[in-house]
Amino acid sequence: MRIHDNTIFIPGATSGIGLALAVRLHSEGNHVIVGGRRTELLAQIARQYPGIDTVRIDVADAADVDRAAAEVLERFGGVNVLITMAGLMRAENLRDRGFLPTAVTEVHTNILGPLRLVSAFVEHIVAQPQATIITVSSGLAFTPMATTPTYSASKAAIHSFTDSLRLQLAGTGVEVLELAPPAVQTDLMPGQADAEWAMPLDGFVDEVMSLLPSATREILVENVKPLRFAESAGNRDDLMAALAHQAH
Ligand SMILES: NC(=O)c1ccc[n+]([C@@H]2O[C@H](COP(=O)([O-])OP(=O)(O)OC[C@H]3O[C@@H](n4cnc5c(N)ncnc54)[C@H](OP(=O)(O)O)[C@@H]3O)[C@@H](O)[C@H]2O)c1
Repeated sequence: MRIHDNTIFIPGATSGIGLALAVRLHSEGNHVIVGGRRTELLAQIARQYPGIDTVRIDVADAADVDRAAAEVLERFGGVNVLITMAGLMRAENLRDRGFLPTAVTEVHTNILGPLRLVSAFVEHIVAQPQATIITVSSGLAFTPMATTPTYSASKAAIHSFTDSLRLQLAGTGVEVLELAPPAVQTDLMPGQADAEWAMPLDGFVDEVMSLLPSATREILVENVKPLRFAESAGNRDDLMAALAHQAH
């Protein structure tokens, strides 16, 4: 992906990986539009980073995705990079039938959210001379964490969807990339922002920025490779067992 002179919409960038990437991409000479639900954070980002624009969006709400997409296209004249960053991760106890509402929220946010965004932007993006769609899965798409079953399954769905999207868009000039992070120090889960089992956010974003120009399919930092390739390495069951006991 060309890493300058793009107009980039990142729904799900009010905090964590999305915000850190937004700031880095802005400093590389891109017009970055940050999206998310927390309007106080959107206002703070606009104040703190002049030049970064913001749009309120709830990716779990189909009508709001269409409204926000229309706002992005109207206010900024279009985008050529879409990064479907928004996501939620929750623990679920599958022995308690009460897990279902959490699962439904995760499906709406982590699966339907990116699908709605692709639907809202794909015709516009395909018409651009140079464009990129980056989806965001996880190492857990490949080696699930049993304590967050719907989250892991949602990211496996995004991996599969992205592979199909890439093939369907072949020949259109749209590059389709999948960012599959390992555990990174953000507020995704309680206690994760300073957990020793998660990698520092700055180091993660540095590595992603160095991989972006040459990435063709998946963006894989070194730390995610054990999860990504566990099945072919023959240790996926062992790794799943270890992850199931990881403290949260
Ligand atoms: N950190 C990790 O270890 C890790 C590992 C693998 C994958 N990932 C993925 O990376 C992405 C970013 O996560 P993060 O770690 O940076 O966590 P984070 O700091 O909690 O960021 C999540 C972002 O998603 C947004 N979001 C959540 N629900 C949304 C909705 N319904 N509509 C719009 N935006 C929504 C949040 O914004 P608002 O609350 O303002 O809406 C926030 O900006 C997620 O897709 C996550 O699954 C993270």
